[in-house]
Amino acid sequence: MEKITIAIDGYSSTGKSTIAKQLAKALGYVYVDSGAMYRAVTLFAMRNGFIGKDHENIQALIKLLPKIKLVFKYNKDLGYSEMYMNEENVEKEIRSLEVSKHVSRIAEIEHVRHMLVNIQKKMGVDKGIVMDGRDIGTVVFPDAELKIFMTASPEKRAYRRYKELLDKGEEVDYEDVLKNVQHRDDIDSNREFSPLRLSEDAIPFDNSDMGLEEQFERMYNYALRVIEKGQ
Ligand code: DC
Repeated sequence: MEKITIAIDGYSSTGKSTIAKQLAKALGYVYVDSGAMYRAVTLFAMRNGFIGKDHENIQALIKLLPKIKLVFKYNKDLGYSEMYMNEENVEKEIRSLEVSKHVSRIAEIEHVRHMLVNIQKKMGVDKGIVMDGRDIGTVVFPDAELKIFMTASPEKRAYRRYKELLDKGEEVDYEDVLKNVQHRDDIDSNREFSPLRLSEDAIPFDNSDMGLEEQFERMYNYALRVIEKGQ
């Protein structure tokens, strides 16, 4: 069966990675979380003092970008790939609220986007890939056979993220998470390079009031229809 490319874009905390992982598993495709790469670069910038609460030194980060080696390694036990930065497993650290607070700023930088988009395009040359992010259907894989654009209300998304962080043992405040979600929406949608946009050929998908099972059924059917049409 011919393999296709599936691009899943949308707002933060809409459950893009959950559905992308499920689809990849059901179809036997590779799953790539492009946001993890922006988060890893952000962690690198934080550790080196290039970005913090009241300071940033973007030029210094740009200079060191070639030194950041990003690799996804498949974890058999978990059933998905984890993000490694310069040989270190940073999967847990890149999901913290601190990294979330700075990542949109880092993702605005043209040099960063250029470097990461190039790596992502290479990952998709053989198709059979599900990638989620903000610019996958518009910039990384403009020719993807299936493009989904996920949305949900900011309050629903903030609540999901809040629960996720609590479950991981982080001390968080719901209002803080909601502010972070709204702030990221604003930066992601209004940045100069590759802003988050619903492209004409993407399917808008609002899951505010949808359970995971129904969501999977629908998405899986979209994918099967596209795959069968190509036979
Ligand atoms: O999907 P996520 O929340 O882990 O993404 C983290 C940030 O990275 C998000 O604020 C926007 C940015 N991002 C991006 O600009 N382009 C992508 N393809 C993926 C993520």
